[in-house]
Amino acid sequence: QKRIGILTSGGDCPGLNCAIRAVVSHAKLQHDWEVLGIPYATQGLLERKTTLLNLHGLDLRGIDPLLSMGGTILGSINKGDTLAHASEIIASYRALALDALIAIGGDGSLAILHQLACQGNWNLIAIPKTIDNDVALTERAIGFDTAVNTIVDALNRLTFTAASHDRVMVVEVMGRTAGHLALHAGIAGGADCILIPEIPYSIDGVCHQISELRDRWGRKFAIVVVAEGAKTANDSSIAETQNFASLECGMGQYIANQIKSHNTLTDRLDVRVSILGHIQRGGIPSALDRLSATAFGKAAVDLIAREQYGQMVAWQNGRVVDVPIVDVVARSPLPVAPDNYLVQTARCMGIYVGDG
Ligand code: F6P
Repeated sequence: QKRIGILTSGGDCPGLNCAIRAVVSHAKLQHDWEVLGIPYATQGLLERKTTLLNLHGLDLRGIDPLLSMGGTILGSINKGDTLAHASEIIASYRALALDALIAIGGDGSLAILHQLACQGNWNLIAIPKTIDNDVALTERAIGFDTAVNTIVDALNRLTFTAASHDRVMVVEVMGRTAGHLALHAGIAGGADCILIPEIPYSIDGVCHQISELRDRWGRKFAIVVVAEGAKTANDSSIAETQNFASLECGMGQYIANQIKSHNTLTDRLDVRVSILGHIQRGGIPSALDRLSATAFGKAAVDLIAREQYGQMVAWQNGRVVDVPIVDVVARSPLPVAPDNYLVQTARCMGIYVGDG
């Protein structure tokens, strides 16, 4: 008989509730363990707040809404000075008398929780989630697939309005340090340019692509997908600071302004910007995210049953495995490698993916 805790930490994403549901189902049905939900991650730990999670606690006339609900029923925190309260959090954790803790988090949260677990001697198990898909040692993190689909849906819509008005549509997507989201969605959604943090772009390159589409193929519109942390090779205002937050406007608007003022294209282009923002974090989880979340939740409980702690469940080569959290933390956030096969694929499709 065990008493386990579960929390969600960092930015929310679709599929978190599926993972919570899977953990509770497996822990209850197979082991009859007590599962305590900890609200707002380390804040809940600090305040020693817990909610007893039951298998059918959220049933509505027999319907279990957790599979299809975005967000997290446990709440989450994305900022804070958690480590400043490390000793209090560790003392609170001890007071809760948990046998193990399952943390569903991205690279930032897992680094903090791993540190707390080492200091406090916790039996920690991690489940990867993030729409950025930049947690190392796993091919998939919960939320990524749904976010890609959300962006592709937006690109489908934006393509038709761009085409109707012969416009350049600049679409800013999330991804401060990693461009996996922009790259996957850009290819699947038919982008002409994909600008990501890992591969510097030049405005000459972007405008050359737009000109080529017009002059060579007679195409009068273009779709430019921009990760919010995209960087340019020859613009010192961004390259020096390496920080998109230093811009007075968002990266999408910045690039739109650059396109508009580019000398060879002046007065020829009508440019519009769409910032998808937190729409990418919401929504009904895709089938793939539901599957990953369910398989991850089941595997996390299995690890606790085997008392094999300090591991993160991960997706590798079509199956769920587990990897040491310490290795994940050391290698995250995982950038898009310049020789990434999707970068090569995009370029072979004639998409401009930075200068390289
Ligand atoms: O970590 C995921 C992410 O979606 C980033 O891509 C984005 O920059 C960030 O979270 C925004 O988070 P928030 O607005 O919640 O601080």
